[in-house]
Amino acid sequence: MKSLARKALNIDDLRKMASHRLTKSLFDFCDKGSEDQISMRDNRIALDRIKLMPRVLRDVSRRDPSTTLFGKRHDLPLVIGPTGPAGFVWYRGETALARAAAGANIPFTLASSSNTAMEKVMANGGGTQWFQLYIWQDVEAALLTVKRVLDAGFEALVLTVDSPVYNNREIDVRNDLSFPPRVTLRSAIDGILHPHWLFGTIGRYILDEGHLPKFTNVHIPEQHKSNASNYVSAASKGFFNRNDTLDWNFVRRLRDLWPRKLLIKGILHPEDALLAADCGADGIFVSNHAGNVNDTAITTWDALPAIVDAVSNQLTIIADTGVRRGSDVLKALALGADLVAIGRATLYGVAAAGEMGAARALEIFDAEICRTMAVMGLSDVSSITRDHIRLPGELPVSGSVK
Ligand SMILES: Cc1cc2nc3c(=O)[nH]c(=O)nc-3n(C[C@H](O)[C@H](O)[C@H](O)COP(=O)(O)O)c2cc1C
Repeated sequence: MKSLARKALNIDDLRKMASHRLTKSLFDFCDKGSEDQISMRDNRIALDRIKLMPRVLRDVSRRDPSTTLFGKRHDLPLVIGPTGPAGFVWYRGETALARAAAGANIPFTLASSSNTAMEKVMANGGGTQWFQLYIWQDVEAALLTVKRVLDAGFEALVLTVDSPVYNNREIDVRNDLSFPPRVTLRSAIDGILHPHWLFGTIGRYILDEGHLPKFTNVHIPEQHKSNASNYVSAASKGFFNRNDTLDWNFVRRLRDLWPRKLLIKGILHPEDALLAADCGADGIFVSNHAGNVNDTAITTWDALPAIVDAVSNQLTIIADTGVRRGSDVLKALALGADLVAIGRATLYGVAAAGEMGAARALEIFDAEICRTMAVMGLSDVSSITRDHIRLPGELPVSGSVK
């Protein structure tokens, strides 16, 4: 796996490898956004339109991309964000991601809709681990999950708040995708055409655990068990319906229950960032959820400056969506983010080659961040400022320079 992963020169190479190994429906689930993919596309456009403004003739022979977050030093200004299907793309893929993060000395976030039990991921993954929480129909059941997260030793709780209803992922409906997977003629053919995934991932679950991957990190009360089986499907009903009743009082309630770091994920409006601070959160993820939720929402990168102005003195700001290069990471930091979260980049890595693939994704980011720091005249990431970038409105209109 190591030699396969090393063939990837960049994140897009890992994406291509993942597309070859996974079934079409699973790859599309990981790779595509909701509805018309506008938000997903715009996030990349927004990042590409930000230009770096380098400084020269500074001694950059010692470059340090490390950063300190919540009192801990991390080797890169990155965190692996939560991605539900990690355990579907690779056998116990959550542990593989956690181990890759620990190897790179960055935090890892376990998604609540994951398959490997949180205690196992904590024990076998090591490093700094955070837990992401969705709230489904039964709030009290979710709070029992929070108790388990606390006992398991996760250092931060990440409450995702941008998804009060299921996203409109037409691509998954067209692909007839469901979790847990349903065996149909179409899914059987798709599986047989991708034997490395079918036998290496699904086959291993059946051999080692006696069943298909299932959700092990969501507390499902007895009375809900009969209608909790189908999680991702247009017809999803019952327990796994997302909770559309939550408001900021729930965040206050969670704050009272959770004594460690509390992060609110999916903030795009500066007033919501202020509300998160008011509720006692320690930080926020400025995120539009990989373009998976609200297809014409403002991009993270357009939203970030106003949020930084509003709350950077009160909250830790983590930004994500669309990050594929080290230069993207430096742009996010220059816009005022304290840390950058990556979703698909390491998900492609783990789908392509397990822990080695995820580690390769992080190695690529490390090399690209350090190289970009050199050409930017930066010796450490904490010295990057807003002056190191130019936004589209700050550039001469193309063609106007004689
Ligand atoms: C396939 C997939 C599954 C995801 N699952 C979750 C999840 O369970 N919980 C969550 O808060 N965010 C989830 N996200 C969003 C990521 O945490 C993150 O916000 C996003 O992937 C960042 O964009 P990027 O993939 O372009 O890096 C998911 C994203 C993808 C692509």
